[in-house]
Amino acid sequence: MPAVAHTRDELRRERGHLTGDVAVVMTMGALHEGHATLIRRAREVAEHVIVTIFLNPLQFGPKEDLSRYPRTFDADMEICRDAGVDLVFAPTPDVIYQDGDPGVRISAGPLGTVLEGHSRPGHFDGVLTVVAKLFHLTGAHSAYFGQKDAQQLLLIRRMVRDLDFPVRVVSVPTVREPDGLAMSSRNMYLTDSDREVALALSRALKAGADAATEGPSAIRRAARAVLVREPLALVDYLVLVHPTTLEDVPEWYRGEALLAVAGRVGTTRLIDNQPVNVGPGGGAIEVFSDIDATAVAT
Ligand code: PAJ
Repeated sequence: MPAVAHTRDELRRERGHLTGDVAVVMTMGALHEGHATLIRRAREVAEHVIVTIFLNPLQFGPKEDLSRYPRTFDADMEICRDAGVDLVFAPTPDVIYQDGDPGVRISAGPLGTVLEGHSRPGHFDGVLTVVAKLFHLTGAHSAYFGQKDAQQLLLIRRMVRDLDFPVRVVSVPTVREPDGLAMSSRNMYLTDSDREVALALSRALKAGADAATEGPSAIRRAARAVLVREPLALVDYLVLVHPTTLEDVPEWYRGEALLAVAGRVGTTRLIDNQPVNVGPGGGAIEVFSDIDATAVAT
């Protein structure tokens, strides 16, 4: 089994044993094949891999699912063992937030107020605050994040760049179930019938990507056509936006764009997205080739 640290002292001691290049994979637990893929990617490149398992209260709103979020620590440890993790840092909230609610937080800025941030006010400030703390606490040189959470990934890249964190951020393509459903710890909430309904999200993204050669409105129309056929998927947003500004791309736009969807199925809020190349020869792409988060849409 990997070494486990629950406290700051334990982390300091165990971290001291890891010499050389260290990568971190940050998680909230309830690990699945998506997380395992991030860990294996990190493992291929770095000498040592630290996984953090921390259900961060700061990024949950008062009406969100913090209390019912799945906790599966023993199974998580087995996944970490099989994926070759050196050290698991699994603190409780009082270890991370020693003085209670932190007065000082990272602000995600304007990009944190749209899409997920619009539906979940304060969410990305909570994410960035804990990610910043975990960068400092783990002293990692690189960090692996999933494209599944595209806006989170973009904001972490921005934070690292805007605040000069000495960390290399690597994105990993979304891992899906064989039927297309994006893997998520929250899929555990879905009933069998919810799960069928949930497939409309990934199907819509695929339909949109398949229309990518025809331009933005064709992509949006094709994706929307799938969603309207599944009224039990309560769509929060379906957008085609620029990968770094998150602004809707205009009809003349050609190049890389993010097709993103969020919606509620039963009691569960799900998000998914598909990076696409818009224009001749276009279609789905795995991750964005231009990963410089400061590139500006023209
Ligand atoms: P969590 O939802 O546990 O996700 C941890 C990491 O796994 C994130 O980088 C996420 O994008 C990635 N991930 C989740 N599902 C994936 C999938 N199907 N394919 C590829 N990667 C996937 O995201 C968080 O936790 C938290 O916000 C965190 C960054 C840990 C801060 O608390």
